Amino acid sequence: MDNNRGTWKSSFGFILAAAGSAVGVGNLWRFPYMMGSNGGFPFLVVYLIIVVLLGMPVMLGEFAIGRSTQQSPVAAYSKIQKGSGFVGILAILAPFLIMTYYGIVGGWALRYFFSFLTTGEGTDFIGLITGGLGLGVWQPVLWNLVFMVIVWAVCIFGVHGIEKANKFMMPALLVLLIVVIIRSVTLPGAGGGFRFMFANPSAFTFGAIPAALGQAFFSLSLAMGAMITYGSYLKKNEDLPKNTLIVSGLDTGIALLAGFAIFPAVFAMGGEPGAGAGLAFITLPGVFAAMPLGALVGAAFFLLLAFAALTSAISLVEACSAFTIDTWKWNRKISVTLLCVLFCVLAIPNSLSMAGGNPFSGENFLGTGMNLFDAVDFFANNILLPLGGLLMCVVVGWFWKPESAVAEIEGTPGYSFKLKKAWSLLIKFVTPILILIVLVFQFIG
Ligand code: PHE
Repeated sequence: MDNNRGTWKSSFGFILAAAGSAVGVGNLWRFPYMMGSNGGFPFLVVYLIIVVLLGMPVMLGEFAIGRSTQQSPVAAYSKIQKGSGFVGILAILAPFLIMTYYGIVGGWALRYFFSFLTTGEGTDFIGLITGGLGLGVWQPVLWNLVFMVIVWAVCIFGVHGIEKANKFMMPALLVLLIVVIIRSVTLPGAGGGFRFMFANPSAFTFGAIPAALGQAFFSLSLAMGAMITYGSYLKKNEDLPKNTLIVSGLDTGIALLAGFAIFPAVFAMGGEPGAGAGLAFITLPGVFAAMPLGALVGAAFFLLLAFAALTSAISLVEACSAFTIDTWKWNRKISVTLLCVLFCVLAIPNSLSMAGGNPFSGENFLGTGMNLFDAVDFFANNILLPLGGLLMCVVVGWFWKPESAVAEIEGTPGYSFKLKKAWSLLIKFVTPILILIVLVFQFIG
């Protein structure tokens, strides 16, 4: 039963690991642009409201489910409510799908880190994904392999490996981020970046709300089994509400800081603001290459991007492997190895889908109007995550009952959860209704 299960050695280790899961490429390349192009301050306010009313209650619920059952999602849901194991299956499907492309992005980051380190500049991204560079289209596949070997080497050691890796990578990420921010904001003309991020409130529309919800769930790693799994390694004396607050605060704070690292530099060097792979692998390398100390800053940026992706990928692989360990009684080393191999193989079609001239190419996968990579990303983020979050609220609010969750949260002798009434109301009514509204709007849209 307790096949290699352990607990976090310290609260600090758990917080860094949960924050490591939350802080990922979503914070670095999606949030800042989303905020800037959707009106800045008003968007930030809406995002913060979503984090407080929807994100934090769900995260606290996930920690409580994990710690109460000491099981990974499928077994955990079945344990709190018979017949609800399917919610856990959804919560495993999301990280499984995400891991078929997340490592490719991590691999690109590693490739760019080495490129800045050795040549002082980035590399040709289009050439990299379309096969114009060296080993043809296999280069991203190979870098994904390098990335996955690191994830594997951490996850085979279970919770203790994960704690150690995060205790190193997360502080390093923060230091690197500060280095990049200092360089970025001291460039002449950096003010344009702040104006882009904050000073355009008329760009806000209500249409941005579903996008903000999707981003909040993705960014906080909710409804993906990750937080339930990490919560399942918690000792009973942890203050769950406090940890929820710190992890969400770190995630949101780092997303904002990422904007301060990126946009002042982009505007100072006359680049185009943007998001996603184009921002990270085309715009920014050009920006870094053109600025004083750019080689160093470029290397710092891509190493921090790689760390962010690694700590997130580790939590996704852990969510999947803990499932095979708890539900199917697999041995950890075999499980982690098989999963990592499987993710490397499944990443191939995703990676190739961005290049032309192979069976996976094409901008209209299954009639979605997107390529395979974007279609998987869209399905996991915009459908599975909100749906999983909604079902989680229903199971916890209406079947397991907030009282059981509160009893778990108050499991530490003498600890009283002051916001228990508010939280119970949120998880029963407010959060699920808001998620439902957003989902419905998304379908109409
Ligand atoms: N939260 C991560 C990000 O912002 C992605 C992620 C999702 C990580 C789900 C773990 C689980 O990029």
